[in-house]
Amino acid sequence: MSLAAFISDLDALAAEAATKFAAAADAAALEAARVEFLGAKSGRLKDAQKGLGTVGKDDKPAAGKKFNDVKAAIEAAFAEAQERAGAGGAKVAAGPPFDPTQPGLRPRLGHLHPLTQTIEELKDIMGRLGFTVAHGPEIEDERHNFEALNIPKAHPARDPLENFYLAVAGKVQGSGFGVQGSSSTSNTDPKNPELLLRSQTSTVQIRVMENQPPPVRIISLGRVYRPDTADATHYPMFHQIEGLLIDKHVTMADLKSTLRLFAGSYFGGEVHIRFRPSFFPFTEPSVEVDMQWNDRWIEMGGAGMVDPNVLRAVGYDPEEVSGFAFGLGVERVCARRHQVTDIREFYRNDVRFLEQF
Ligand code: DAH
Repeated sequence: MSLAAFISDLDALAAEAATKFAAAADAAALEAARVEFLGAKSGRLKDAQKGLGTVGKDDKPAAGKKFNDVKAAIEAAFAEAQERAGAGGAKVAAGPPFDPTQPGLRPRLGHLHPLTQTIEELKDIMGRLGFTVAHGPEIEDERHNFEALNIPKAHPARDPLENFYLAVAGKVQGSGFGVQGSSSTSNTDPKNPELLLRSQTSTVQIRVMENQPPPVRIISLGRVYRPDTADATHYPMFHQIEGLLIDKHVTMADLKSTLRLFAGSYFGGEVHIRFRPSFFPFTEPSVEVDMQWNDRWIEMGGAGMVDPNVLRAVGYDPEEVSGFAFGLGVERVCARRHQVTDIREFYRNDVRFLEQF
């Protein structure tokens, strides 16, 4: 086939297609015309393409270009006719009909773990009360976990059976427990401190005060570790929220009102706070904090006025400043609010449980 014949055939085809598209009376007729000219398998344009193979070798580039131009022109003519016929949806209509009344398929979205949500919320509430967030390491030395917190060497809280001491370079840690009669509270070799997984977030109080002068107004939230057998209210790893405020003239009333505001914001509604006398080495006086919500009292943790020995351990002057501290269980507050009766649920990773938050 000559190039001239190929071109004139294509021109004729384009003209005929344009006429037919223009003449199509409805969507069905237009679709029939589309199949006739543009059908992928046996459309007439497809047929005409075969002519390409028969033109002379030198004419191939020109023939190919002509073919592409005509193809584009026919497609454009179809698109134009389609638009004119208002049959823009013809292609969609060719698929299964869309039923807007069918319920959608909801994608399964993940979300933050309930404890993470609680931690975020507690940070938010305390942030509004002016407390900034401080962090500390989960692997601690005895100075931060005990000594600077006024917990002497022979104190039962330091028993290796009550803590996760770490064996470092073949040395079993925590072996100094029970050494009696030591004159100072700091009998740890500073070059070889005994390490343990922190048993409380009170460690962060020390880390913050060591590094900044008063006033201090921080909270710290994080994991703590104790070798407890897991049951409905215990787990060997759990979370605490620690609060510390140091300033001039801080009183127990400040502590109580802060905790009350905090509990009211988290639980919502009227929450009563009750202090029961208690003992912690790092506070004097010390209290257990109970909160009443929906007519039930629950134990939330401990609190008190920071012991002067703690202030001295970090170089603060207890004659100049005072402060309060508190430490509450995150699992406890979260479980209470959501009526979770077994804190092990938080760690089972059962989506049927987690999905509910
Ligand atoms: N660290 C204590 C515990 O784990 C809780 C606690 C009590 C923290 C009194 C405090 C505090 O800051 O003042 O049982």
